[in-house]
Amino acid sequence: MLKSLLRVKPVEPAGHVDAGEPFEGSLEGEATLKRTLTARHLVMLGIGAVIGAGIFVMTGQAAANHAGPAVMLSFVIAGFACALAGLCYAEFAAMMPVSGSAYSYSYATLGEGMAWFIGWCLVLEYLFAGSSVAVGWSAYLVSFITTTLGLPFPAELANAPLDWTGHAFIASGAIINLPAVLIVAAVSALCYVGITQSAFVNGIVVAIKVVVICLFVAFAWSYVNPANWHPFIPENTAPGVFGWSGVFRAASIVFFAYIGFDAVSTSAGETKDPQRNMPIGILGSLAVCTVIYIIVCAVLTGLLPYTQLGTAKPVATALESYPQLAWLKTAVEIGAIAGLSSVVLVMLMAQPRIFYTMSRDGLLPPLLGRVHKRFHTPYVGTIIVGVVAASLAGLIPLKVLGELVSMGTLLAFATVCVGVLVLRYTRPELPRPFRVPLAIVVCPLGALACVALFLQAFQEHWKVFVGWTLIGLCIYFFYGMRNSRLAKQA
Ligand code: ALA
Repeated sequence: MLKSLLRVKPVEPAGHVDAGEPFEGSLEGEATLKRTLTARHLVMLGIGAVIGAGIFVMTGQAAANHAGPAVMLSFVIAGFACALAGLCYAEFAAMMPVSGSAYSYSYATLGEGMAWFIGWCLVLEYLFAGSSVAVGWSAYLVSFITTTLGLPFPAELANAPLDWTGHAFIASGAIINLPAVLIVAAVSALCYVGITQSAFVNGIVVAIKVVVICLFVAFAWSYVNPANWHPFIPENTAPGVFGWSGVFRAASIVFFAYIGFDAVSTSAGETKDPQRNMPIGILGSLAVCTVIYIIVCAVLTGLLPYTQLGTAKPVATALESYPQLAWLKTAVEIGAIAGLSSVVLVMLMAQPRIFYTMSRDGLLPPLLGRVHKRFHTPYVGTIIVGVVAASLAGLIPLKVLGELVSMGTLLAFATVCVGVLVLRYTRPELPRPFRVPLAIVVCPLGALACVALFLQAFQEHWKVFVGWTLIGLCIYFFYGMRNSRLAKQA
């Protein structure tokens, strides 16, 4: 059994791949994914996946309850950890331009057991993040319809029928979260039809949200009251509540805002000249988002005392105090609705591509590896992911799952950092179009930073995480280990 867990998928130098070339692992006469995406598409996909609930929803709670105006520092800390992981992702994605992201990188370096574990963690990241953000999207939309437009919307159709008391599920009185189901269905339909179409729609949506954020910064800046930035780090009152411990606790919360830049790497199988474009896509989107986040936080905490920002819509809340900026509040709401929908899009685009790669490796049933003959998309996986994500978003309150998203992602990031270093020693001869500078320092530091954030805030969810891991292990032992393509070749 140990042999199975430790078997490593050999990495072959990718050679130079470009548009239209068949995807790795394709069989003759079989439909394959197509290389059509450029560096610009990738940066847009990255921004599309990254800017969403993190900045539009979570910043307020992080500032009001943990860090005060120093939430800016929390974004710097989380961004630093992501930048280190991003460098490692860039090295792998340029060297192995395949769709499996951290899963494939672990398979090539740390063995099948670890690869399965990371693939399973990525389900937490992509599928559950897609569902959680769909629920946030629904809340923004319903609030826009009822408060801004003044139209009615039945509450029974805007909430999950189940509520979680902390110990058990109880009936909430609602029927279904219909808008959340509809956004997942619409996005899944788009993913089914094609990655170019998805990237096109994503480009429009990203443009809307970036323009809205720029408008917010440009017009709200002159209303900033620097007195609101004092004290910059409020005095510590309990562990994780203000002071430096609060800044770190807030960093682990706003880490969610960065999740998604890695989703760019799942499009590596559909990217032209991935050796050049992958590092630009990953690092470019990360850099743009970090700058945007820090500026938005500065304006936000300057507009209103941090104690008043702890709402579900902090950016809109901050603007409510300035009647002359009412038009900007409406624009921000539209930007948030657009912003959250593109996060759902990229997350639900990434998940079937991970399943596709795992299925090609024999660790999941072949059905998930089927590619549509006309659209060249992993269509069966797209349908399955869409149905599961829509059910989760429509029926279940996703508070705990939302935090599991960060746990799964942090472990995947840490593994990728370790994997880069391992491969430098086990396969030093492989061509690396992009190399992590000072890997001996950057990789361990990246892994440590991610593990430190993992340990920061989520200890209370370890039990759920362990349960999730056990379910994954059962599937691996009963299916994956027996059907592994690598085992059959041995
Ligand atoms: N980074 C994404 C968001 O903030 C998941 O919504």
